[in-house]
Amino acid sequence: MKIESQIIVQPACSLRGTVQLPGDKSISHRYAMLAGIAEGPSRLENYSTGADCASTLGCMRALGVEWERDEKGAIELKGRGLSLVSPAHSLDCGNSGSTMRMLSGIVAGQRFPSEMTGDESLSRRPMQRVITPLSAMGAKIESRDGKPPLRITGAPLKGIDYRMPVASAQVKSCVLFAGLYADGETRVEEPLHTRDHTELALRAFGAQLEQKAAASGGGEVRIRGGQRLRGIEARIPGDLSSAAFFLCAAALFPGSQLTLPNLLMNPTRARLLEILMQVGLRVSVTQLDQIHGEVVGTLQVEGGQLKGVTIAGADSAALIDELPVLAAIAPFSEQGIEIRDARELRVKESDRIAAVAENLRRMGAQVEENEDGLKIRGGQNLHGAELDSFSDHRIAMAFAVAALRARGEILIRGAESAAISYPAFFETLERVVER
Ligand code: S3P
Repeated sequence: MKIESQIIVQPACSLRGTVQLPGDKSISHRYAMLAGIAEGPSRLENYSTGADCASTLGCMRALGVEWERDEKGAIELKGRGLSLVSPAHSLDCGNSGSTMRMLSGIVAGQRFPSEMTGDESLSRRPMQRVITPLSAMGAKIESRDGKPPLRITGAPLKGIDYRMPVASAQVKSCVLFAGLYADGETRVEEPLHTRDHTELALRAFGAQLEQKAAASGGGEVRIRGGQRLRGIEARIPGDLSSAAFFLCAAALFPGSQLTLPNLLMNPTRARLLEILMQVGLRVSVTQLDQIHGEVVGTLQVEGGQLKGVTIAGADSAALIDELPVLAAIAPFSEQGIEIRDARELRVKESDRIAAVAENLRRMGAQVEENEDGLKIRGGQNLHGAELDSFSDHRIAMAFAVAALRARGEILIRGAESAAISYPAFFETLERVVER
């Protein structure tokens, strides 16, 4: 049973303090999956506290991977090697598109059938993008018209040469994971560079791959099948997409000061920091380090005058998870914010273009909603209102941030959705806001 909760956010005047982010969601999923199919134990510190990454761990347990939390909260997994165990029940991916899409690549290489299911929102999301390449590799997949549940009958896979029609790191990861099980070489080409955590993680677990720029302007990755992985010990860097809510909140108030230690700064995710600098946030980075190929550092930010920006093309793909919060703060910017080429936002946990437009309008904003984005005028004053999370974690958190600059109290229904990626979000935000 889903218990709905609502939260009330009062206006604030600045933010100050230090925020330690839970481990990055994208990296947590990948490390849990690869640790499961590696040989030997893995120990993952600062694993994401979100429900999505718990779904991945639940699926790995159903596939025979034993794991437990040690006294420090780290996840210790016993890798089984590439061959997993036939699950006694369907693999419940909950709300997590990452779990379903990436794990389908591993399940497709097993010698048993599996069923992957999800909640109401996940059951509406497109899966044809993984069904097409996995079927070309030899897996048999039944779906509900390209939507979950997926019934995957594993088979001996063969390597393919796959050009992805949509830039998606989840699809790239799915094909590369299946490539581990395939006969011969698998090549994936992406139209734009997407986050490269899978490539870095595969290397960290001992696999060899080749990466180079593709003629299309994106990248290509090649992996040979049959490679054995070995377990790792890792401390997962703080989640940059969760940090985005605090960074955008700081950007709303000149003089705000926040410190975010141990934060992920992978260059394929860090475009956010450049855009935030462009809109007026002062940013400095210290204590840069690399863990298993992932760049981490301590970020210090200071709010200034919030300026406008247009986000389009490759930037929209690079910032796809941060666009809701950037759009939510847009009315408070001087020149407004325009987002184009972000059609993918319509097939996330909610239709994020419609959800952002609806909530901003309820706060009294003028918003132009387009098929692939939003245009939001700057210099608008917004009032108190009752908003909806649309059962989407990033919408709940984006509007808690916008609420800080509204002229009245904001009520957000379905606020519990934040727990999908960041259960401690609201209490952490309250700790660093000043009124
Ligand atoms: C993710 C890739 C992106 C992103 C999602 C996480 C990943 O999705 O929106 O939150 O970890 O690879 P797409 O692959 O659909 O672009």
